[in-house]
Amino acid sequence: MARSRSRRRARRIAGPRAPLPPPTRRGRRRTQKARLVIRPAVLADLPALSALEQELFGPDAWSEQLIRQEIEGPGRRFVVADDLSGYAVTMTAGDIVDLLRIGVRPDARRSGIASRLLDELLVGTDDASRMLLEVSVTNSEALGFYVARQFSVIDVRPHYYRDGSEALVMCRWLPGAARAETATSHD
Ligand SMILES: CC(C)(COP(=O)(O)OP(=O)(O)OC[C@H]1O[C@@H](n2cnc3c(N)ncnc32)[C@H](O)[C@@H]1OP(=O)(O)O)[C@@H](O)C(=O)NCCC(=O)NCCS
Repeated sequence: MARSRSRRRARRIAGPRAPLPPPTRRGRRRTQKARLVIRPAVLADLPALSALEQELFGPDAWSEQLIRQEIEGPGRRFVVADDLSGYAVTMTAGDIVDLLRIGVRPDARRSGIASRLLDELLVGTDDASRMLLEVSVTNSEALGFYVARQFSVIDVRPHYYRDGSEALVMCRWLPGAARAETATSHD
């Protein structure tokens, strides 16, 4: 009897086991993202990439033929999340890297996929001086992303898009820029 009372007391002290809180949506997504592999696009990805382009860019979407050219073209790096929830493309000419596209499926956004894609495209760009892109002034999602990823506005192109909106030219400085500056100041 005394034994069972002390067991009851021990149970009372320990209390009922608190259930773990369910993972938040953001937490679940961050875990999924951590498992994602970023890899170069291959031609077998074309149908899925073409469908995603269409979903994200509508009348401005690249055709399948154009996507193929971007996968195979000179100076291009075309990377995808291996579940094809996102993709990004750059073209390098001289010391300038142009970010031509970056897109993530709407239901997979805000989990760091675009950041992973961009990080992958930044690998090996140490000799370049800057990464440039154009973005519509009306595209607040992309602007939020680019500002968060250290791009700043360096120019404006009026009436640039089909809808008449202006394009902001944004730049992220790369390590080559600092080296070029140091070399010039020592001349
Ligand atoms: C822009 C885009 C690629 C961002 O993709 P994403 O995977 O959601 O971006 P990330 O999760 O890596 O975001 C990293 C950071 O960027 C910022 N950011 C991203 N989306 C944002 C938004 N909608 N509003 C404000 N800031 C945003 C945040 O600081 C975010 O960090 P946080 O989620 O911890 O706050 C995505 O919204 C998209 O595909 N848009 C449509 C296509 C497009 O317009 N592409 C650009 C023109 S080519």
